Amino acid sequence: MKLNFKSALVTGGAGFIGSHIVDELLAQGVKVAVIDNLSTGNRKNLAHVWERISFFQGDIRDQNILNKAVQGIEVIFHLAAVVSVTQTVEQPIDSAMVNDFGTLSILEVARQFDVKKVVISSSCAVYGDSPQLPKVETMMPLPLSPYAVQKLTGELNAKVYNDLYGVKTACLRYFNVYGPRQDPSSPYSGVISIFMSKAASQAKPLIYGDGNQYRDFIFVKDVVRVNLLAAYDDDACGKVFNIGSAKQTTINQLWEMICAMTALKIKPEYQPARSGDIRESLADIECVRSTLGFSPEYSFEQGLEITLQATNHKPGH
Ligand code: NAD
Ligand code: UD1
Repeated sequence: MKLNFKSALVTGGAGFIGSHIVDELLAQGVKVAVIDNLSTGNRKNLAHVWERISFFQGDIRDQNILNKAVQGIEVIFHLAAVVSVTQTVEQPIDSAMVNDFGTLSILEVARQFDVKKVVISSSCAVYGDSPQLPKVETMMPLPLSPYAVQKLTGELNAKVYNDLYGVKTACLRYFNVYGPRQDPSSPYSGVISIFMSKAASQAKPLIYGDGNQYRDFIFVKDVVRVNLLAAYDDDACGKVFNIGSAKQTTINQLWEMICAMTALKIKPEYQPARSGDIRESLADIECVRSTLGFSPEYSFEQGLEITLQATNHKPGH
């Protein structure tokens, strides 16, 4: 696919997913600007491309810096957010200022500067724990946290900007994304990043509950590809897409796979299930498949292997 735009702004581009989008855009010859306040992101995620991007260190709510960052930009990939659900529970107003008002600021700047397309990162959290599986976009959202409400609000505002103001938008509801550069440092980090760092130090992982709960894991490079597709293809406009693998993996299976790949024989330690933990999560990806022709390219084994190599080796992967 030859991209039909030459410049892009990645909000949250110093973070896990955003920095991989930056890499691919540069590889495709796109001029890249990044705005990031480095609250959870890190310059080291961009160290290998530092000379090739325009980096704006600041907050997406800062109109001055946003106006500068958006100059000459054709497409915005909006990833900047307070991503910790726990933080949004503790700080519902502060987090809403970033996730709600911040997203609205991005849409508004896109309107003012005639940006061609805005691709917004949303979350499967909007589904809550409704029992229907797999999750389909037509289901009624049931947010259970400020984070989920904020993500849903972002989707709704994106739709209004698309339909009312003619700012082309597309929203991507990610399921559990994993890959190199995912930060394992908090107990609420993605389970794969935590298990990879346990394996690297030959430590025992903690499994909350019986380990038979399952998730739909999607490799970060597939998430990058669908972001670019959504930017490229106007059939994405005004729509929301589930982005997952449509495959389920239990937490027990995950640790067994990592052990097999690393030749480790470490028994996990089981702890009580986390309160509020969702038992099962699985995406229906028919909508993105039929609309954008997207289906994941990386098998779970391939994605895990790449993540493992990156965990054991140096950054820049
Ligand atoms: P991340 O924390 O690595 O990236 C978020 C980035 O946004 C960070 O670099 C952070 O410094 C930046 N940021 C936060 N607040 C900002 C602000 N006010 N102004 C400027 N920059 C700000 O997290 P990630 O996993 O890469 O998540 C990227 C996006 O994907 C987020 O919108 C998140 O909600 C969404 N998402 C991620 C997952 C997942 O599994 N990782 C799942 C669903 C949705
Ligand atoms: C994910 C999001 C979360 C969001 C939720 C809603 C991430 C990192 N978290 O949570 O913000 O609210 O979707 O859909 O994307 N586990 C262990 N041991 C560990 C870590 C985790 O057993 O050391 C278990 C968890 O209890 C859970 C599973 O692994 O059952 C997955 O955990 P996690 O990676 O945090 O993702 P979600 O729970 O899906």
